[in-house]
Amino acid sequence: DCKWKGIIEAYREYLPVSEKTPVVSLHEGNTPLIKADNLSKAIAPDKNLQIYLKYEGLNPTGSFKDRGMTMAISKAKEEGKTAVICASTGNTSASAAAYAARAGMKAYVILPKGAVAVGKLSQAMIYGAKIIALMGNFDDALTIVRQIGEKYPVEVVNSVNPYRIEGQKTAAFEICDYLEEAPDFHFLPVGNAGNITAYWKGYKEYYQKGKVKKTPRMIGWQAEGAAPIVKGFPIKNPQTIATAIKIGNPYSWQPALQAAKESNGFIDAVSDEEILEAYKLIASTEGVFCEPASAASVAGVIKAYRKGLFKGSEIITCTLTGNGLKDPDTVIMASEKPIEMPPDINQIAKFLEL
Ligand code: F0G
Repeated sequence: DCKWKGIIEAYREYLPVSEKTPVVSLHEGNTPLIKADNLSKAIAPDKNLQIYLKYEGLNPTGSFKDRGMTMAISKAKEEGKTAVICASTGNTSASAAAYAARAGMKAYVILPKGAVAVGKLSQAMIYGAKIIALMGNFDDALTIVRQIGEKYPVEVVNSVNPYRIEGQKTAAFEICDYLEEAPDFHFLPVGNAGNITAYWKGYKEYYQKGKVKKTPRMIGWQAEGAAPIVKGFPIKNPQTIATAIKIGNPYSWQPALQAAKESNGFIDAVSDEEILEAYKLIASTEGVFCEPASAASVAGVIKAYRKGLFKGSEIITCTLTGNGLKDPDTVIMASEKPIEMPPDINQIAKFLEL
């Protein structure tokens, strides 16, 4: 769709906007749903799994957050707000800063010090946000941000803001529009748990409107060291290489559990090793580069396959939530380094085994 104008224009009838809403958009959404047959063969050679990757890394700021942010910022502008604030593991702050810039609003972001991928931090910086590196983790940052939102005239654009969920549900619409039916399973990473909540809302709404005849089983994945929902209690000091989902006390904990329950799905955890294995496999088999947290979805498919969850040829959609370029440090840490050589054709040919 070469005239795509973003998710609000595309799905206006499903969103709480009116003619009076000033739409602040960077033409987010309309991301590709990539059929991943190589990946499917690599994961489950004995099945015919129909795996699709919803590549949200191709949004304007490189993550799914843009879907929610176009809504949150447009509504804040409609309500006359002039400043927004968020806590973030990186992507929300990048998106908030970009959309605030476009709206002519101020953006304040509070980030856990030393725990945000360099690409995300540089985005918030170039878009002109005022940035605080908090001596604390994401959960501490969100607590402060919510207190500030109650006390001062600044709009909180974390997923505590219901417009964020409304915008993010459009990814489920796009998947159904593309497949002309809902998938059998939807796999995605879980951090603050807003996105699983949003997808489930989207799938249910499409089902209720008769656009699809079924809803998928929602399968959410936390990182083992940051898996409060799986363990059943908040984690004080969450740890994982997937910094995007390094969260110990998710805001949408209950709605996420409800999504899993209502859809006959579940929320489970994968280890950092499993995340990195999937991260490399997606890139090397399909040429699709996502950030580590995103790969938790595919790591989940691998784990679920080993546990016997799939019968044969089910349609499985996996959200790849963020672009791999956001976190170059993890690639360099997890990959083979380039080898240095002089410009000598014989030596190079020998090394390449040509
Ligand atoms: N994947 C990526 C790349 C993310 O950035 C996030 C969340 C998630 C998955 C999890 O989504 O929180 O809705 O369950 N990032 C937030 C942020 C916390 O601040 O950017 P969720």
